[in-house]
Amino acid sequence: MNLSFEKKVALVTGAGSGMGLSAAQAFAAEGAAVALVDTNESAVRTAAEKLAASGHKAIAVRCDVSDEAQVKAMVEQTVATFGRLDAAFNNAGIQSAVSEVADASVEEFDRVNAVNLRAVFSCMKYELLQMRKQGSGAIVNNSSLGGLVGIAGRAIYHAGKHGVLGLTKSAALEYASRGIRINAVCPGIIDTPMVAGMLASQAEAMKEMMRDVPIGRLGRADEIAAAVLWLCSPSASFVIGQALAVDGGYTVR
Ligand SMILES: NC(=O)c1ccc[n+]([C@@H]2O[C@H](COP(=O)([O-])OP(=O)(O)OC[C@H]3O[C@@H](n4cnc5c(N)ncnc54)[C@H](O)[C@@H]3O)[C@@H](O)[C@H]2O)c1
Repeated sequence: MNLSFEKKVALVTGAGSGMGLSAAQAFAAEGAAVALVDTNESAVRTAAEKLAASGHKAIAVRCDVSDEAQVKAMVEQTVATFGRLDAAFNNAGIQSAVSEVADASVEEFDRVNAVNLRAVFSCMKYELLQMRKQGSGAIVNNSSLGGLVGIAGRAIYHAGKHGVLGLTKSAALEYASRGIRINAVCPGIIDTPMVAGMLASQAEAMKEMMRDVPIGRLGRADEIAAAVLWLCSPSASFVIGQALAVDGGYTVR
């Protein structure tokens, strides 16, 4: 099993918190130079400084991934700093309010999916421009259990997360024979600041969802990071276009 990222460069969006932060720390621990990307500049700066202080190579990049020009600049800054791009975890995402479709708005649809879907496309586009030049690389997109099943009241979020899997599978086929692997993770309910917010603001809906988690607990961010690192590593060299559920059994019921 080879999980080493020595001499490799990794980029993580949404690295200021939750699964993104955990994945960035895990990439660094395995030897990668890491670009930590987020709209929350102080969070990524603090995290990058901590990594640098313990001997890792890390930069913080302020970037709103829903803005294509910022995404282009962010990938270019990463490559200018570290010379290449070997792994990317397109993870930044936001939640949507619980609402049935008839009461939801196109403005909310566009707000959420500018980040959760369109930005994954933009990030892949600029990452792949670099990886295509290199003839190597691995990308993991963060979808969700919401990419695999529907839940009443969550159509806007689930539409974007299903879309991420469509992007993942189609792009995976384009690059499979050119040394670039693209996959997705589909986390279940993970104990992050996003879920803490949902537990507070959508207590009833969340209680109902939690009843459907066979393992009987929330997931941890490091359990998702472990899957992301494996998918980006040479150990997953034959894994292409998969949507890997890491969900405590939620989607196998
Ligand atoms: N927590 C869960 O249970 C869960 C389950 C399935 C999927 N997900 C997905 O996992 C991903 C990470 O979620 P998390 O729970 O770690 O959330 P989180 O809120 O803890 O972290 C998300 C990070 O993304 C950043 N971000 C938000 N919008 C951004 C933008 N436009 N540009 C750049 N950065 C931006 C935030 O500042 C934050 O640091 C999201 O895509 C989310 O939809 C979460």
